Amino acid sequence: MTDVARSIRPRRSNLAVPGSSPKMLDKAKGLPADQVFMDIEDAVAPLAKPDARKNIVAALNEGGYDGKVRSVRVNDWTTEWTYLDVIEVVSGAGANLDCIMLPKVQGPEQIRALDMLLTQIEKSEGLDVGRIGIEAQIENAMGLTMVDEIAAASPRVETIIFGPADFMASINMKSLVVGEQPPGYDVGDAYHYILMRILMAARAYDKQAIDGPYLQIKDLDGYTRVAERSAALGFDGKWVLHPDQIAAANEIFSPRQDDYDHAELILDAYEWYTSAAGGARGAAMLGDEMIDEASRKMALVIAGKGRAAGMQRTRTFEPPQS
Ligand code: GLV
Ligand code: MG
Repeated sequence: MTDVARSIRPRRSNLAVPGSSPKMLDKAKGLPADQVFMDIEDAVAPLAKPDARKNIVAALNEGGYDGKVRSVRVNDWTTEWTYLDVIEVVSGAGANLDCIMLPKVQGPEQIRALDMLLTQIEKSEGLDVGRIGIEAQIENAMGLTMVDEIAAASPRVETIIFGPADFMASINMKSLVVGEQPPGYDVGDAYHYILMRILMAARAYDKQAIDGPYLQIKDLDGYTRVAERSAALGFDGKWVLHPDQIAAANEIFSPRQDDYDHAELILDAYEWYTSAAGGARGAAMLGDEMIDEASRKMALVIAGKGRAAGMQRTRTFEPPQS
């Protein structure tokens, strides 16, 4: 365990890159995704996993992912690969790596096992103990049932990620199209409960909530529709499997300019109204809108997302003349 302070990093777009492809690992450096995650799990065939580990270490050490969160997805603990994935990647490139993504997490002990292994490698390699974060993928019924304990299992946990493809398989959902409603279900959103369950755990424990992939990579409208749903609920970002999806994710998971301006305005106005100069009021009018402490909290969320996305405000608050 550790007391390294974790900063919240923007993760609007999380680009998946197979570790088996040095070409794609290289190309990712120039793409505008907030996060790159290099895969040794399901996008890499069993025989290609040893080489994928080496390719990833080489790419990380070569650098060039400036400004991006660098994550590596290892195989899940039920396989024979996890420990070597972690040891090879973290011993080889721990200083140039931000997070390990653990798929198919089923309980807090799986997070704690990874935490302990990371701590040992960090100590033996002379790295900052606790700096490397953990991203937990929720991909089956057991994982979702245990999601609160998983989120709370280690201060290293930064994100809780929905893995829709594995999840649909795990619950026997009658559909093969990730993100779309299963045929025959016409009374709502079949993913609503799962998304909300993950979001509640993430918010309760101060983690980021990330939506998983949309596999029809040529259907940008479909991607946009599904991404807008999880963004509207409060998710922080979504996976992208193709460069064309990056701009859509960055836009959808940033506030609209108007909302960002409005949020900054509320924060300034509320600060002024609660000050002595503004009359030390707890509730006040901003135009036609009443604002109070709860408005400030909502505004902080939108302003925080806008600031993290590097947005600039286009309006400023003018205190009323008395
Ligand atoms: C991602 O890993 C998924 O299973 O959807
Ligand atoms: Mg999966």
